[in-house]
Amino acid sequence: MKKALSLIDKLNQEKALELEEWVFLIEHREEETAETLFALARDIQRRQFGNQIYTRGLIEYTNYCKNNCYYCGIRRDNKAVERYRLTPEEILDCCRRGYALGFRTFVLQGGEDGYDTDERMEEIIRAIKKGYPDCAITLSLGERSYESYLRLRQAGADRYLLRHETAQETHYGMLHPPESSGANRKQCLRNLKEIGYQTGTGFMVGSPGQSPQSLAEDMIFIRELNPHMVGIGPFVPHHETPFAREKGGTVELTLYMLGLLRVMLPKALLPATTALGTIDPKGREKGILAGANVVMPNLSPLGVRNKYELYDNKICTGEEAAECRHCLASRMESIGYKLVVDRGDYKEEN
Ligand code: 5AD
Ligand code: FES
Repeated sequence: MKKALSLIDKLNQEKALELEEWVFLIEHREEETAETLFALARDIQRRQFGNQIYTRGLIEYTNYCKNNCYYCGIRRDNKAVERYRLTPEEILDCCRRGYALGFRTFVLQGGEDGYDTDERMEEIIRAIKKGYPDCAITLSLGERSYESYLRLRQAGADRYLLRHETAQETHYGMLHPPESSGANRKQCLRNLKEIGYQTGTGFMVGSPGQSPQSLAEDMIFIRELNPHMVGIGPFVPHHETPFAREKGGTVELTLYMLGLLRVMLPKALLPATTALGTIDPKGREKGILAGANVVMPNLSPLGVRNKYELYDNKICTGEEAAECRHCLASRMESIGYKLVVDRGDYKEEN
């Protein structure tokens, strides 16, 4: 058997590989190996989740950010972006519309906005939980202190998404200014898990400076963290960032990494991301067929959608939430899957 295939087999058996083995698998990609990988990933996905795809309603509630990540369109030095911050009433209105459409998870995502004190976030979380007690709340507000994560968890937040972006320290330094630390980011993730959040991490595929070695380190970090969710999508350049002229990530490598993640973490929640849908009109469908099982359509009010542009040409910025949900439902049906009305919690026992 080809070495790449026997490594995929080993990954399937042992759910882990050595660093050099990851590097080999990533360096020696071939269409045939990828097809075998996706078939295995779909088998595992079907066994765990049937043909059900979970949805999360994404509410991009602020695009203020105090950070300056080189890749990100809402970095603080981007003076061309018009900043906005939804009021608690506007956020609740998104939930109301989302609930009616069948969403049972709301993801509050924003830049690291200094305005988001624990008190303000606690109030918003409590209000959502009061109005929609059967829904899960996912936060995606970046790095905060242990105490802050604890308070928000106690206020009712169930899950937290914080991509580690890259596990390799030198690569982290190429993507972020010196004020940001990869070590702190990893510590935040450990804190989130310890506090009891269903925790999501992830990385961009094809970011400047990424190598098979750094991707291998991502897989090893993820194996060790053992998160409940892993979000990966291609890096897409944004014209108002230092990376405006860099090359973007590919569909091919993103799908391959998704397949490997599904084999390594059978129970994990893996979104077919908007970034993947942005660089390929069938990107999200291909993501599902490579092992993903979650989609996260936008619930943000139409008026602010084009202001939350992390990268260029982001899709769905002109669609009503209802259109987006229906569009995704028929996209999923077209490949034999269905969107379900379910919180879509991580299930230990699967
Ligand atoms: N291209 C693709 N993904 C990006 N993100 C931020 N900027 C970009 C970009 N230019 C991703 C980061 C972040 C998530 C919310 O969006 O991985 O964690
Ligand atoms: Fe948003 Fe298709 S998913 S319009």
